[in-house]
Amino acid sequence: MDLVRHFGIVLIIAVFSGTRANELQIDPLIYEEQLLWVGGGAGQVNTYRIPLLTFTTRGSLLAFSEARKFSYDDIGAKFIALRRSTDKGVTWSPTSFIVDDGSLADGLTLGSVVVDEETGAVILIYALCFHHYHCDPSSTMMVQSLDDGFTWSAPRNLSVELGVKSFAPGPGFGIQKRHPPAVGRLVVCGHGSITGDGVFCILSDDHGNTWRYGAELKSIPYNQRKNNLDFDPDECQPVELDDGSIVINVRNDKHYHCRCRMVARSLDGGESLPVEELVFDHTLEDSAVAAGALEKEGVLYFTNPASANSRVNLTLRWSLNLGKSWVKDTLKIWAGPSGYSCMTSLKGNETEDHKYIYVIFEKGQKDYFESISFVKVDLYSDQ
Ligand SMILES: *[C@@H]1O[C@H](CO)[C@@H](O)[C@H](O)[C@H]1NC(C)=O
Ligand SMILES: *[C@@H]1O[C@H](CO)[C@@H](O)[C@H](O)[C@H]1NC(C)=O
Ligand SMILES: *[C@@H]1O[C@H](CO)[C@@H](O)[C@H](O)[C@H]1NC(C)=O
Repeated sequence: MDLVRHFGIVLIIAVFSGTRANELQIDPLIYEEQLLWVGGGAGQVNTYRIPLLTFTTRGSLLAFSEARKFSYDDIGAKFIALRRSTDKGVTWSPTSFIVDDGSLADGLTLGSVVVDEETGAVILIYALCFHHYHCDPSSTMMVQSLDDGFTWSAPRNLSVELGVKSFAPGPGFGIQKRHPPAVGRLVVCGHGSITGDGVFCILSDDHGNTWRYGAELKSIPYNQRKNNLDFDPDECQPVELDDGSIVINVRNDKHYHCRCRMVARSLDGGESLPVEELVFDHTLEDSAVAAGALEKEGVLYFTNPASANSRVNLTLRWSLNLGKSWVKDTLKIWAGPSGYSCMTSLKGNETEDHKYIYVIFEKGQKDYFESISFVKVDLYSDQ
């Protein structure tokens, strides 16, 4: 009996680890696509940009974007738009505006969404007056939902504790550390103002109640005007690997060293980003844009408009060795104009959860900022 039970357990482990993604042939295909937001139409919004996507702990999908009221410009007044899906992206709620910055000349800048797996809270961090355009100072703001994205708190001003440095989170998702060091810590990374640029991370060890600055990788020359080819780490997406390190895929804004992505790494839970760990990933050609990164079952995924010079050809790549190299096959999600992107997936045990990743991205026919599209990607389309 004991022996049988023992063998039963061994068998279950073998079967389970046998389904690890990297032992199956990844052969991704677009399973379905839906436009979530289209700008330029009627109503209160000129342009939707900067899409974010996350699952909640209860398995709902939340899609966020900046709803720019009067123009496609980065500055200007905005709402934060939200759509919610409780059936993994098949149907979506109508848009609700969960934050309204009124008529600010230099309104809100999205943003990072981070889900606390212990409390279930969905935390959204954004900036006000990031560009210092007809306003001062810059503020780092937070709203949160404790009911699966249904209702949202009033905005809280994190600059009271963080200071008023310009900080544009993400855009993308923040992480909660799952592996040592610093299990449970919330890590939200973003970038500084144009002169004071660089990658900066803010950290919370108490589920978002208090925040402090952690790791930084400053631009050179720091606090000075940048020229083409200067070292200017900018918009970024952190991902935690199973060894507890945090890999941050970074926009190389002034094309220092290459027209490709920078990859920074923190080995101490987001406290530091040692320059010794910084690499330039020449395979990940990039025109300087915010890109998507995701780790799922030992595979690293990456999305960007895969071109050194323009925002076209939104492409999904995958790596079976955590980014040391990338599989030659790629999935072209959209050949036309395309911009920022963000990815998410479920971590559950159901077949469905292993099979799909979900991508949101800026998509257009003539300009990349015409609409925001949601794509469900079947990773194992031939199985
Ligand atoms: C946020 O707090 C900072 C520091 O106290 C303050 O200077 C800034 O005006 C506040 N921002 C908002 C939007 O209230
Ligand atoms: C986009 O992809 C197509 C087909 O793969 C390629 O011919 C084209 O050069 C790419 N465009 C850019 C700007 O890289
Ligand atoms: C998935 O299965 C593993 C092993 O049976 C278990 O430890 C884990 O809690 C499960 N995860 C979820 C999200 O159900």
